[in-house]
Amino acid sequence: MTTLSETIDLQRQFVLPTYSPELVLARGAMSRVWDQTGREYLDFTSGISVCNLGHCHPRVTEAIQRQAATLVHVSNLFYNQLQPRLARVVSQLAFGGRVFFCNSGAEANEGIIKFARRWGGGSGRCRIVCMENSFHGRTLATLAATGRAKYRMGFQPDTPGFVHVPFNSIKAAEQALDSSTAAVLVEPILGEGGVIPANVEYLRQLRRLCDDRGILLLFDEVQCGMGRSGEMFAFQHYGVEPDGMTLAKALGNGFPIGAFVVREQWADIFEPGTHASTFGGNPLACAAGLAVFETFEQDNVLDHARRMSGLLRAGLDELGRRHTLIEEVRGVGMMLGIDLRTPVKPVLQGAAKAGLLILSAGENTLRLLPPLTVGETEVDDALSILDQVLSAAGAQTNGDGQS
Ligand SMILES: Cc1ncc(COP(=O)(O)O)c(C=O)c1O
Repeated sequence: MTTLSETIDLQRQFVLPTYSPELVLARGAMSRVWDQTGREYLDFTSGISVCNLGHCHPRVTEAIQRQAATLVHVSNLFYNQLQPRLARVVSQLAFGGRVFFCNSGAEANEGIIKFARRWGGGSGRCRIVCMENSFHGRTLATLAATGRAKYRMGFQPDTPGFVHVPFNSIKAAEQALDSSTAAVLVEPILGEGGVIPANVEYLRQLRRLCDDRGILLLFDEVQCGMGRSGEMFAFQHYGVEPDGMTLAKALGNGFPIGAFVVREQWADIFEPGTHASTFGGNPLACAAGLAVFETFEQDNVLDHARRMSGLLRAGLDELGRRHTLIEEVRGVGMMLGIDLRTPVKPVLQGAAKAGLLILSAGENTLRLLPPLTVGETEVDDALSILDQVLSAAGAQTNGDGQS
């Protein structure tokens, strides 16, 4: 076992410094994680919407262990028994259609962008209309799709063929569509961009607009999908079906797996040899994915998540009424954002010190992504820690007259 300081020293010496972590986490069980010194935390980050069923969910762990002892990997030159079964579940729960499996959100988005370009190829449609403040990944094409210029700094030239329009503005989307547009790509709930749900009427009008102009409507559900919103997929709140959708993060509850789904009518756009991924849909990843969906069904995870979301939201609204530091509470299901009137960093640090891990989404927005399986007492505990930390931050702000 390495000690705490050995872990940090090794990381600083041998890992490229693209992240700036503060804690060394060593163990997890459902809504809780423990650091290397044995200190316990309530985890309201879920690995950024990955461990939606909680850490080391017994059913998923058991499925991974069983499959690891049976068949870990075969290439896609062969069938494996689990990939088509997982594809059937995803397809049936989504909007029908066909699935391609890969390993991450960026790879899923990269794949669906390729799909849209090939779909539009015959008619010269290749441009993708994306949203300002969106996030789609860190590969070159998904960076170009991402609506935040700061992530592209230093990586120019930008991959061509992407334009950005303000989120929730149908007029802006309409103006951006032209005869070279293949698709509109949108997160139904902006995650990294501040936990901002699309307006119902906006997504409905976007659907009509894409239908009228013969353009694909694609949803990135990498963060907001897999029950996070209280429905299995966020689009199901809107009564609007996309032509294609990407998934990753919670699809394997921590085991890396991504996917994109496209409507059945477009099933022949990709022929053998047009797209591939070595690990995509391997037996181990699919065993994890199947166990995730089985758990959703057998444990009524969505019902539970909706109930817990109601409690958490009511508690946050109540904090909002008492703490002047809070400007707005918003979000859907277990994807909640809290705008503060000050930068959130001291609140994040204060919460971690008090045993609660939470996230930010930009300078002034706190982001709460608890496991969907979180318990009532855990919700109460998190709210009381937030209450204390916001009081301390408020006193600080009033006391020194800054921030
Ligand atoms: C909406 C969305 N799309 C894509 C991605 C990229 O996923 P990954 O980090 O698995 O490549 C993320 C990651 O946060 C995301 O939130």
